[in-house]
Parts: sequence; C-alpha cells; structure tokens
Amino acid sequence: MKATAKAPANIAFIKYWGKRNAKLRLPMNSSISMNLTEIFTITSVEFDVKLKEDLVRIDGKVVSDKEKERVVKHIERIRRLAKVNLKAKVESRNNFPKGTGLASSASGFAALTLAASKAAKLNLTEKQLSILARIGSGSACRSIPSGFVEWRAGNTNESSYARSLHSPDYWSICDVIAIVGRKSKKVGSTEGHALVESSPFFKTRLSGMKKKVDEIKTAMKEKNFSKFGEILEEEAINMHSVMMTSKPALYYWTPETLKIMLKVIEWRGQGLESYFTIDAGPNVHIICREQNVDKIKARLVRFVGIKQVIINYPAEGARIVKF
Ligand code: DP6
Repeated sequence: MKATAKAPANIAFIKYWGKRNAKLRLPMNSSISMNLTEIFTITSVEFDVKLKEDLVRIDGKVVSDKEKERVVKHIERIRRLAKVNLKAKVESRNNFPKGTGLASSASGFAALTLAASKAAKLNLTEKQLSILARIGSGSACRSIPSGFVEWRAGNTNESSYARSLHSPDYWSICDVIAIVGRKSKKVGSTEGHALVESSPFFKTRLSGMKKKVDEIKTAMKEKNFSKFGEILEEEAINMHSVMMTSKPALYYWTPETLKIMLKVIEWRGQGLESYFTIDAGPNVHIICREQNVDKIKARLVRFVGIKQVIINYPAEGARIVKF
C-alpha cells in the first residue's frame, strides 16, 4: 500500500495569521494565495505489515522527535479514517530549504495528506483533502486545489477549506523569490500564531479583513494588477506590524529584507511595476507581471547582491505522481 504525491508551496496575498481554534487550525480570517511551480514537496507513504514503528525521513534525514510527532499524528488521522492499522514509512523531499519561511509545512502537509490517503485506499474529494491537510498545517489546505486559491475561514471543521478561484493559466503573473536567509527560523509559525492577540493592533487588522479579501478578489477578477499589488503589499506590512508588536515581538526581517522592499518601491517609482510580500521568514516574494521577470531578476542580482532567485509561475495543486 504505497503512494507518492507532489504538492506545491503557496504564497499568500492575504495572510493567515491567528487561529480561532488551534487544535483544528481554524483561522481567524479567510486568506488568498497562489500555488508556486518551482518550490514543492514530493512525499511517499507506504503502509507495510513488516514495519514495527512509523518511520519518517525528510530530505534524506531521520527527523527530530518533535517533527516526527506532528507527522505521525497526521498519519494517525488517516489511519483512523481508513480503518488501517499498519505502520507507515514516510519519505519526503523538499526542493528548497526547510524552515526559511518558504512554506515547507504547506507543501509538506498537502503532499503527506494526499499520499497517505491514497496509500490507505481512501478516495477523498478535493474538499475533504483540503480539510484534512488544514488540520496538519493551516496553509497546507491552500496547496490542495489548483492555481489561485481562497481558503474560506469557516467556523467548523467542515466549513473551513480551500477552493480554486482561478486556474493556473488564468493570469500570467509571477512570484520572484529573493532568497536572503537559509537558516531555520527561531520562532516557527505555529508558535507565532498563538501570539496574535497580544498585539494591540490585531483587532484592527481583523476588522478590515473581510473588505480586503473582497477587494483583492475583485482586483483578481478584473486582472487589475496595480490594485491587486497595492492590496497584497499593504497586507504583508499589516501582518508584520502585528508580528512585531506581539509579546514577545517577532522580527522575521533582516537588513537584506528591508533593502529589497525599498528597492521594489524605488523600481516601481521608475516604472518597473512589482509589489512585495513576506511570510514568516526573511525572504522577499516579488509579485510582477511575466514580462518584467527578467528585468527584476537582473536588478536583484546587480543592486542588492542576492545570490539565489527563484522564479515561480502559478501552479497546479497537489497531485499523485508515479515513480
Ligand atoms: C505567515 O500554515 O505555517 O505563512 O497552521 O501552525 O502550520 P500552522 O501555520 P502555517 O502559517 C502560515 C503563516 C504565513 C501566512 C500564510 O501563509 O497565510
């Protein structure tokens, strides 16, 4: 009983930061994202009668007890659903560094959910997969459907899942990622979410969320890139303001992060239109139209001294793959 799945990472334009239910990972607000072509996870799960215990390897290494526990808990959920009681071997590979804010938990739990449920012979719908992936890691529910995605917050396990708003070929926009940090972050997003209510600005953030989600969806529908960019950039700053004012404060930016943010604004002033967004890490995602990718890449290398740049197009959601 074995299956292998590939799932993309995703970049959120409207962010998930704060949970109303930590156990079920029900978010405080809806979020909007795009799946990414160049950063993904491939995971194989095999249920095998010969195994005495669950085995988990990520990027060729046996994982820490804490990481293993989170993966095994997820496998447990799938075993319960499928009424399978065999132990599992999980082998997972990311094509990007883990724990740098490049959403390894999103692609990781989306791939794990699909591979494990197929290996256990469950035939789940996209909605059911998204719900299950969400319980593993919130943002993972957005890596199940294709292209441009909305995760409706909902208020129960059954009503909180992601669905596709537009297919990958709907809009030729790109996410140019400037990699500035490779070290694992000190405070992971799961711990970070728990601090939101300690920020005096969180209530204000939440009160504007519904309007913001509606506005960005309209901008996407109209393919109004300038409006879309304005909203997503403001949203990134809004979320980081909450992070930086929570207790303890969370600073995910490094001096390089800020340098790139300022450059993006400067380039925009010169007519090269792009907008930045940043997750729980120092790397900067520059959102631009496809025709500007080369110019942005050249400037990043020349003006900011960035060594690695990853160019992403809108991607399909999680898929079963054959080896
Ligand atoms: C800043 O999905 O990693 O990237 O549900 O605890 O696993 P858990 O959190 P996670 O949080 C992602 C936070 C974010 C914003 C986003 O992707 O929406």
